[in-house]
Amino acid sequence: MTSDDHPRCNRQKTVLVTGATGYVGSRLVPQILPHYQVRCLVRDPARLDDSIRDQVEVFQGDVMHSHSLHKCMQGVDVAFYLIHGMGYGADFQKKDRIAAENFVAAAQQAGVSRIIYLGGLGDDADPELSPHLKSRHEVGQIFLASDVPTIELRASVVLGPGSLSYELIRSLTQRLPMMICPKWLSTPTQPIATQDVLAYLQESIELPLEKSEVFEIGSQDVVTYGGLIQMYAQERNLKRVLISVPLLTPYLSSLWLGLVTPTSAEVGRHLIEGLRNPTVVRDDKARQIFSHQPMTTQEAIRQAVQQEA
Ligand SMILES: NC(=O)c1ccc[n+]([C@@H]2O[C@H](COP(=O)([O-])OP(=O)(O)OC[C@H]3O[C@@H](n4cnc5c(N)ncnc54)[C@H](OP(=O)(O)O)[C@@H]3O)[C@@H](O)[C@H]2O)c1
Repeated sequence: MTSDDHPRCNRQKTVLVTGATGYVGSRLVPQILPHYQVRCLVRDPARLDDSIRDQVEVFQGDVMHSHSLHKCMQGVDVAFYLIHGMGYGADFQKKDRIAAENFVAAAQQAGVSRIIYLGGLGDDADPELSPHLKSRHEVGQIFLASDVPTIELRASVVLGPGSLSYELIRSLTQRLPMMICPKWLSTPTQPIATQDVLAYLQESIELPLEKSEVFEIGSQDVVTYGGLIQMYAQERNLKRVLISVPLLTPYLSSLWLGLVTPTSAEVGRHLIEGLRNPTVVRDDKARQIFSHQPMTTQEAIRQAVQQEA
């Protein structure tokens, strides 16, 4: 079967990918390229992988500037929103909101028939939900409240080399034989392999949809962040001792992380603040509706470590 004969293939469809220079977007583009006309919205075309640049339509734009979105939305059937504002500075929540409003307004005006957004897990009712996760959910609400049918996929840590949250875990585990960690070590989470996220994103393009939907996605099992660090250490044949110190505040944690990881202190702080919130799949609708079934966390870590090599 050629890619054009594939039952999920619709080369007539034009798919817009934002965040195409980012971790998820840069991996999604080559995966959907054989099946769809792909268009990328980027702030700086020079940052696109050379292998991608020649095979897609490239539009330069910035979701913070609404005027730069209208042209690239013309003729688009499905638009992926794979952008976050963790690097925007202190008022990132406001900027994330403006960006989402600009994006949805342009999509609505152009008659886009579906938005697919990858956001974050976490319980909306949690009074201690971190600003980053709250902002991720708020972006989803903006899309869901619009007239454009939307699929919001909510995920925890995406496991794969290059993913910000994975890099945090990797550098912590590799650099420190003994870790003094705040109480987030025992927070439950349900991370997901990059390959599984990409499969869910791709399937979302053709998924029959009667109304906008939120799908929570994760690997087959729930682990703690401490457990995740130990799983990574085991795959790398490292012996690690974790000592929990409840008094280490997220702010101090982020400064400390800035010293031991390549993540900037600002991005590190947003990620660290989110570690106190359980990020597990509470609604398993995705497992019933999508044909794709995810792997276990152990398999996902193993695959990520192999990819590092
Ligand atoms: N990685 C994870 O573990 C994880 C987990 C759960 C959910 N997610 C979600 O997945 C999505 C993608 O995350 P990621 O890990 O791929 O992030 P990433 O690697 O940091 O990439 C972010 C992308 O957003 C683009 N961007 C930022 N501000 C922009 C703006 N104003 N206009 C246009 N583009 C802009 C960046 O472009 P530049 O190259 O120009 O900076 C980059 O391509 C996000 O919604 C995130 O919340 C990720």
